Amino acid sequence: MADNVGNKDAKSFSENIPFSNNGGYHVKGASNYDWGMKDRLSRIFNPKSGNTVMLAFDHGYFMGPTSGLERLDLLIPELAEYADCLMGTRGAIRSSVPTTYNKAIALRASSGSSVLQDDLSHESMVVDIDDSIKMNASAIAIQTFIGADGQKETIEALNKAVNLGSKYSIPTMGVVAVGKEMERTNKFFLLATRMLAEFGVQIVKTYYCDEFEKVASACPVPLVVAGGKKVPEKDALTLAYKSIQGGAAGVDMGRNIFQSKYPREMIQAVNKVVHEGYSDTEAYEFFENMVN
Ligand code: R5P
Repeated sequence: MADNVGNKDAKSFSENIPFSNNGGYHVKGASNYDWGMKDRLSRIFNPKSGNTVMLAFDHGYFMGPTSGLERLDLLIPELAEYADCLMGTRGAIRSSVPTTYNKAIALRASSGSSVLQDDLSHESMVVDIDDSIKMNASAIAIQTFIGADGQKETIEALNKAVNLGSKYSIPTMGVVAVGKEMERTNKFFLLATRMLAEFGVQIVKTYYCDEFEKVASACPVPLVVAGGKKVPEKDALTLAYKSIQGGAAGVDMGRNIFQSKYPREMIQAVNKVVHEGYSDTEAYEFFENMVN
């Protein structure tokens, strides 16, 4: 390991120069993967736009039935056709998502704490790779707490997932966690996203931040941006727009879709931004026209 003294801060990100090792494949950093891995990534990332709308509904794995997610069996059928990928737990997906949708699945495979605790940072890989294969997962998602108490165990869980995922060509999505003690600065996200990519994940889920372009530029695999807590629809569409403009390859959005009064219309507006090049203003007009 390089010593930690006298390091120079990174500063030359070449944000305007496209990633150079893509060999014609539409997923960033994936040109050297094998066929099975690319096939799964192509189910998540639309080959035309290169992007993905992931619908996140895995919150119950540590929060229980939060607002909007009380009845997955009713919610998912309403929204699934507008999602490229469904992100959930095996329990939620097996029990409540019809097999006929044939959507990509980002399977939440880490767990270990609950909202009843102060410190949520202790997670391990709890879903066997065998069960991920049985679920036909297009990716397995592992939460990693960089800079928090659970850093070592979650890095180990992430690397275990990458090892097993590589064996069976199942992409790992590293989820950058932000605990309540953790700063949401571009310095933190530069560190965390790059660390996860260097551990070998094929996708990084992160949050939007100032100078997001640098974060995206320095991460050699696609970033998908979480929606975060519920905000007005216009603001959530602005977040999606700024993320795509900044170099994200999609969103992994939950509450800003399923807690909207109009979730079906909201996910369609998000699609316009992610796949069709709409600005946030255009997408919000589209949303308003549908709900009024
Ligand atoms: C958190 O529990 C999960 O990782 C969610 O999948 C993620 O935070 C995205 O959901 P939201 O858009 O509600 O933040």
